Amino acid sequence: MVNYKDLGLVNTREMFSKAVAGGYAIPAFNFNNMEQMQAIVQAAVETKSPVIMQVSKGARNYANATILRYMAEGAVAYAKELGCEKPEIVLHLDHGDTFEICKDCIDCGFSSVMYDGSALPFEENIAITRQVVEYAHKYDVTVEAELGVLAGVEDDVVAEESHYTKPEEVIEFATRTGCDSLAISIGTSHGAYKFKPEQCTRDPKTGRLIPPPLAFDVLAEIEKKLPGFPIVLHGSSSVPEEEVETINKYGGNLPDAVGIPEEQLRKAAKSAVCKINIDSDSRLAMTAAVRKHLAEHPDHFDPRQYLKPARESMKNMYVHKIVNVLGSDGKLG
Ligand code: G3H
Ligand code: 13P
Ligand code: ZN
Repeated sequence: MVNYKDLGLVNTREMFSKAVAGGYAIPAFNFNNMEQMQAIVQAAVETKSPVIMQVSKGARNYANATILRYMAEGAVAYAKELGCEKPEIVLHLDHGDTFEICKDCIDCGFSSVMYDGSALPFEENIAITRQVVEYAHKYDVTVEAELGVLAGVEDDVVAEESHYTKPEEVIEFATRTGCDSLAISIGTSHGAYKFKPEQCTRDPKTGRLIPPPLAFDVLAEIEKKLPGFPIVLHGSSSVPEEEVETINKYGGNLPDAVGIPEEQLRKAAKSAVCKINIDSDSRLAMTAAVRKHLAEHPDHFDPRQYLKPARESMKNMYVHKIVNVLGSDGKLG
């Protein structure tokens, strides 16, 4: 058993209450490899922002759970080395789908876990979330739960349609589970194709897709039912056009990829939404930089040559999100 406090990590409790009160959101960036980890830490230190580094089941399978935990420990040391005296870094399990995986993460040093029972019937979701909360709270680990279904892929779970969170269910869910934060469904979804072209309108000049707005009325209802309670938005990549264009220009094929406009995320961050999950934008930044570099330097074969610009591009993207979208810059301490 390793306690996260001994690794210099923090849980989300204080971070979220400050973010809700201050009208900003904490960035939750997924990581699977060293370059993403370095870029996240560099961006958080440069902007003096708290940060959540999150690990999906897919990341655990890809990189190995133990390695990722040591990388998070390394992230704290790296942040200090970069000049941040008291970094606020959370190591979070993203979309845990069983009690066992949540327990395993808590036991190996995670400071926060998500139990995602959103695909289960209400009562089953409550029962397992409650079990995770009881275990997690013994070690002062915070728990994110999910109510409502996002369209798209959540690890192995594929949902064709999204089902918005029902505001009338949130009080009972939060009270009976004791969860520390709640992920809701208001129209976001995972991946780089968040909306089908037929759900969007097209800009007549550029031909670009304009997605439908998020359900801010549902968010407002939820906030009314649970005043001040930390709300989480998954599937919040904005799928920047420049990155998609670069990928397509250098041999990729991502037609009609579309994300959540940043103005909408900015608006959400000012509300009780205090954690915003971004993964796909990092994948796009990395892929665009690697494709461009290799196309321009066909003689290069040292991974450091193409991963260096990829890391820089991800870092710039993380800084931009922190400063211009989430507003968590300067919020350490
Ligand atoms: O919620 C989905 C995250 O983007 C993680 O994706 O399961 O492919 O690692 P992954
Ligand atoms: P994106 O695919 O929009 O980056 O969402 C990531 C996410 O929600 C991770 O849990
Ligand atoms: Zn998610």
